[in-house]
Amino acid sequence: VVNHSLNRGENLTWHGMDITRAFRENHMDQKAYTLWFTGLSGSGKSTLANEVEKRLATMGKYTMLLDGDNVRMGLNKNLGFKQEDRIENIRRIAEVSKLMNDAGLIVLSSFISPYISDRENAKEIIGDSFIEIYVSTPLEECERRDVKGLYASARAGKISNFTGISSPYEEPQNPDIEIDTSKYSVDECADFVVEKLMEIMEK
Ligand code: PPS
Repeated sequence: VVNHSLNRGENLTWHGMDITRAFRENHMDQKAYTLWFTGLSGSGKSTLANEVEKRLATMGKYTMLLDGDNVRMGLNKNLGFKQEDRIENIRRIAEVSKLMNDAGLIVLSSFISPYISDRENAKEIIGDSFIEIYVSTPLEECERRDVKGLYASARAGKISNFTGISSPYEEPQNPDIEIDTSKYSVDECADFVVEKLMEIMEK
């Protein structure tokens, strides 16, 4: 009996194609990276990733932004917030980021991605192009902002497994870039991240 829904890599052969990632990067005159934004809900990941992407686009870079709520409305609409679903969420996003890197794009991936092991797995999938950006806005500030009202609902017990309240967030131990958006304006944060990125990318 062949189970078509569960293919664990058996009987597959990788096809090497003539138009390679290196060719595409050369064509686009850029090196592809995945900028992985991690942080609590309401930490400012989406706002920051959006501002950083605008700056990169203005510099002539080819980019793509992947964002939690949006990806969960499409590709990952069958996933919720229990741990095994978050693991699968992050695994798929890492694979998509890698595909887009292979297409030559600079990918900005903005997901809570609360588990260290999942971010390590993402790094393994994506490889050297992975840059971890920790949006380290403290929980109190995220909860004070409560842009979507989710913290209030979580505190009231109306949402289960809410990150920071009833589900863990494991802080990055050694992020490439760290930024606390409670201390600076959006523009200052975005300028800071782009400046750091340029240092990393030019190495
Ligand atoms: S994860 O942990 O990486 O799989 O989460 P992510 O895909 O980034 O999705 C986070 C957004 O989902 C909304 N939401 C929740 N977040 C955390 N915990 C629970 N239980 C939850 N339920 C819904 C919320 O809008 C998150 O968006 P951001 O932009 O992070 O606020």
